[in-house]
Amino acid sequence: MPRSSLAVHLCVCVLLLCANVLPRDSLAMGARVLQPSLANVADDDNDPIVWDDLADLTTPRDMASAACAGGAIYVVGGQTRTDEGAGSDILNSVPQLNGALCSALGTVFAIGGADGWEPNDEVQKFSVENNWWDETTSMPTARYGHAAVGVDNFCFVFGGAAPAPEGKGEVVLSEVEVMDALKETWGALPPMPTPRWGISAAVESKSKRIYVVGGFDQLGRALGTVEVFDASSRTWVLDGTVPAQIMPTPRGALAVGIVGLRMFAAGGIDASRKELSTVEVMNLSSGNWSDDTPLPAPRGACAGVVCNGAFAVIGGSENAGTQTSDSVYAVQVNKPATTNTTTTMPPLSA
Ligand SMILES: *[C@@H]1O[C@H](CO)[C@@H](O)[C@H](O)[C@H]1NC(C)=O
Ligand SMILES: *[C@@H]1O[C@H](CO)[C@@H](O)[C@H](O)[C@H]1NC(C)=O
Ligand SMILES: *[C@@H]1O[C@H](CO)[C@@H](O)[C@H](O)[C@H]1NC(C)=O
Repeated sequence: MPRSSLAVHLCVCVLLLCANVLPRDSLAMGARVLQPSLANVADDDNDPIVWDDLADLTTPRDMASAACAGGAIYVVGGQTRTDEGAGSDILNSVPQLNGALCSALGTVFAIGGADGWEPNDEVQKFSVENNWWDETTSMPTARYGHAAVGVDNFCFVFGGAAPAPEGKGEVVLSEVEVMDALKETWGALPPMPTPRWGISAAVESKSKRIYVVGGFDQLGRALGTVEVFDASSRTWVLDGTVPAQIMPTPRGALAVGIVGLRMFAAGGIDASRKELSTVEVMNLSSGNWSDDTPLPAPRGACAGVVCNGAFAVIGGSENAGTQTSDSVYAVQVNKPATTNTTTTMPPLSA
């Protein structure tokens, strides 16, 4: 996008902000040290996890996406309901609803999502230095409800959905695509074994294995499916070297994060479209799942991110999708998170 149109857009944004259009937020991990009693919980500890309340989002939202870069959590897009059941506003002039954020090379990329109700193939990157979004190469497959994970210099994108022709529901996708964050080019990879959307994913950093968790199938059923993608060999791990993988509570639109060898699966929406407070934890060495301390409140379509050794569950829907929340719940695993404040960032460019 040429500079001049960015400048025009900046003016538009400033005006729109005055007219009460909601900005996107970043939750800056900066200044505050949390309770010392939370420190030094070992990775393989069997004690129940403890949920902390972090500073609220400045805007309640569900279907937002989150990523960690440079020790800060970025939260982009989503929608908010102004009143109970009174419809919704998609955040921002260029909405990113049900999109995905990816952090690679210290940069945050906002990838796809619903734009109005159409799937989007756009990719924008946030420059921390310039405090601004710029467009970059579009993703080959337009989609929403996908998951994106950054590993080294690459962003891997999994599944999602696009509307079926003639408004006949949704086409659920198995496409996997990868962006080289340095060259800003895209390529196709082997498809995900189970097509699904409303999925969540996280990477185990030592093995560079990406766990793609839950979601909904073509018939709208909630899934407990966990499939594992090896980011080094760029293949799906189907050889039995990863132990049993079915999440006990099938659900989509949940928050997932890996700290050490534990994968947290929190909240989400079940087969009856109810929001859950369920938290299940998978031991990545044994493949065993166990129940853990539930979220302080049920949350559907919440964003999940791991940052500074903390797993955070951000926003989400409540009361059968009639309300959106501004809560940020976090589990501090290895060390106390060092912050608890929010700042805003500029909106995505038009
Ligand atoms: C995870 O599984 C490994 C291998 O079976 C085991 O040694 C370890 O104690 C388990 N961790 C927890 C927290 O159960
Ligand atoms: C974070 O800040 C909020 C207020 O901004 C406070 O209510 C909350 O208790 C704090 N959380 C922690 C874990 O310090
Ligand atoms: C998984 O958990 C079950 C029951 O909780 C236990 O019997 C089994 O030994 C565990 N497996 C591993 C590999 O830790």
